[in-house]
This record gives sequence, structure tokens and C-alpha cells, in this order.
Amino acid sequence: MDKDSIITPEHSQYDDGNGEFSLRPLRLNEFIGQSHIKDKLSIFVESAIKRSDALDHILFSGPPGLGKTTLAQIIANELGSNIKATSAPIIERPGDLASLLTTLNEKDVLFIDEIHRLRTVVEEILYSAMEDFFVDVKVGEGVSAKSFRVPLPKFTLIGATTRSGLLSTPLYERFGIVERLEFYNENDLAYIAKRTGEILNIEIFNDAASSIAKRSRGTPRIVNRLVRRVFDFATVENVTEIDGSFADISLTKLGVDENGFEALDKQYLTVIIKHYGGGPVGVDTLSVSLSEEVETIEDVIEPYLIQKGFIKRTNKGRVATRKAYNYMNITKKNDDFFEPNLFDKEF
Ligand SMILES: Nc1ncnc2c1ncn2[C@@H]1O[C@H](COP(=O)(O)OP(=O)(O)OP(=O)(O)O)[C@@H](O)[C@H]1O
Ligand SMILES: [Mg+2]
Repeated sequence: MDKDSIITPEHSQYDDGNGEFSLRPLRLNEFIGQSHIKDKLSIFVESAIKRSDALDHILFSGPPGLGKTTLAQIIANELGSNIKATSAPIIERPGDLASLLTTLNEKDVLFIDEIHRLRTVVEEILYSAMEDFFVDVKVGEGVSAKSFRVPLPKFTLIGATTRSGLLSTPLYERFGIVERLEFYNENDLAYIAKRTGEILNIEIFNDAASSIAKRSRGTPRIVNRLVRRVFDFATVENVTEIDGSFADISLTKLGVDENGFEALDKQYLTVIIKHYGGGPVGVDTLSVSLSEEVETIEDVIEPYLIQKGFIKRTNKGRVATRKAYNYMNITKKNDDFFEPNLFDKEF
């Protein structure tokens, strides 16, 4: 494989086709929220610059759309370094990664998205690269095969994952900085909505920003999507300023309810409550019932439902809580809620 072909081109890495690129903050001080991470990162970046050294390797984990890719780009900007971005599923062979590593320059950032999906043989290349900055490159086949040790410049690997639990221990332990992004609070989401409004050149009043924030599942990517959709309504109706009631009406028309739940969330709760008596029900069963991949259920649907207290994950399966029943307007007949006991591990 040509080594350049595993580098994700900028326009697809940083733009999902919905104009995400233009909305991405470029500097740490424009990045809203996650202050527990930002404060530390700014110290680490400043220290690396003062020492004139490469920044330690960083792993960002957390649900989709919270800003992992954005932070990787910001760190490269703050360091004044080049960034090369790739994604684990497109790195097929160890040689592909080895040749990408040999194109790096001193203090460059290598960003590997979905790093939990690296194949083991590919991942092993990273061990010496991350720790001792060399790769062993094999040339030739069979008995005439030879291995050469190629030194690498000191670089910074930034890995992003929605599943840090799936990383192998040797890989996980080679990251000097490990940060988990959390869902954003409504205040931060409202700021993001207003910022996006400014970039799109439309005034979003505070009540409208709060209404969008409340329905964004703690996720900046969803804020941006909802702002764009409300913007569409405003464009069609020749509205130049968005107030709370305009936002509410538009979002209701879009089928986004006051919790930010969309059709799939409602189907998920319906399956657990109506088809499986509130659970426990296994994720594989849910996957079949909803015709969705297990990964989509675990990474996209469930984290927010768990955080909001609508479901619990137990080792017997998923369980709907009283809050979910109330939301679905269903009374549980014998009021016999499955309460996981102390020995039920949440996983
Ligand atoms: N803190 C923030 N402030 C402002 N905008 C943000 C922030 N975090 C994320 N965004 C916006 O949300 C969008 C999604 O962020 P990003 O692509 O970095 O998420 P991600 O964690 O990499 O998601 P995935 O797991 O799907 O790759 C970005 O385009 C960016 O505009
Ligand atoms: Mg990303």
C-alpha cells in the first residue's frame, strides 16, 4: 500500500461533509468546556515547548462527537507541529504503519482515530515506536528475509477511541497522558450553540441556545447539527434571529424531544420495556431487535441513556429504570423493578 494512502486527507478527516471543519475550534482557548482536561493540556503543551521536546503520547477516549479529533488538531496547532491523521481500520499491514512512521519529522503529531481497532500485528509496531522511537522493518521473504532497525524522530502519538477498555495493556500503558472526555453540561453546550450561530452568521438568543443545548445529548456535534437544522427553518421562513420559541417549534418539527431523544432512542426503550418487560436484556438481542450494530448501541445510544439514568447496564443485561417507564408513560404492573444487587458488576 502506498504510505500516503493511509493518511486521511484533511477534508475528510476534519470535515464530515456537514461543514464540521469550519466549526472546529482551532486553539485551546476557543475550545469550550472540558476544563479538567484543557487546564492540564495547556501545561503539558507549554512544558514541551519550553523543553523543546516532543509532547508525551496522548490517548483521548469518550463517546462520539465530544471533541477528541478536535483536541488532537488543537494540540498540533498549539505545539506549532504538523499533524498526520489516519484511522486504525485502514491500516492493514504492519509495513503500512511502519512506512507512515518513517515519514514523520521531529515533534510531529501522528493522530490515529479508532485506535482500539488496530490489528494486533500492526499494533506491535507501535510498541517500540512509542517507547524507544524505532521500528524494525522486514525486507524480503522467507529465508532471505532481513530485518532493519530504523530510528524514528521523537514524535507524539495521539490516539482517539470510543472504547478505551478494548485497548491492550501494552498499548494503553505507553500513553503518558490519558484523558476521558465527558458529556458537556447545558451551559457549555449553549455557548457552543451561540458560537456556531456566530460562525453561520445568525443571531441565536440565550433562550434558543438553552433549548438547543437541552436537546443535544451532552454532545457538541449534536449542538452543531441542531443549530444547522434550525438555521434551515430560519432561512426558509426569512427569520434572521432565533429565539426560544422558534427553536422549540423547529426542533419539535424535527422530531427531537425535550430530552434530545430521537427515533432510535425511543425504539430502544420500547424494545426493553414493551418486548422484554423492562429487562434485563442482552445487547445482542437488542442489536437484532433494532437492526443496529452492537457497537452503535454501546457507543452511540447507551452512554447518554445511562448518564441520564434511563437504563442501567448490569452483567445480566440492560434494565429500564423507573425514569424510563415514566418517560414512556407506561406503568410497570407489579412495580417490581429489577434492582441490581451489590454483586452485580456494572460493565
Ligand atoms: N469543546 C468544543 N467547543 C466547540 N465545538 C466543539 C467542541 N468539541 C467538539 N466541537 C465540535 O463538535 C464537532 C465534533 O467533534 P469531534 O469530531 O472532535 O468529535 P470526536 O470526539 O472526534 O468524535 P468521533 O468519536 O465521532 O470521532 C466538531 O466539528 C467541533 O466543531
Ligand atoms: Mg473523531
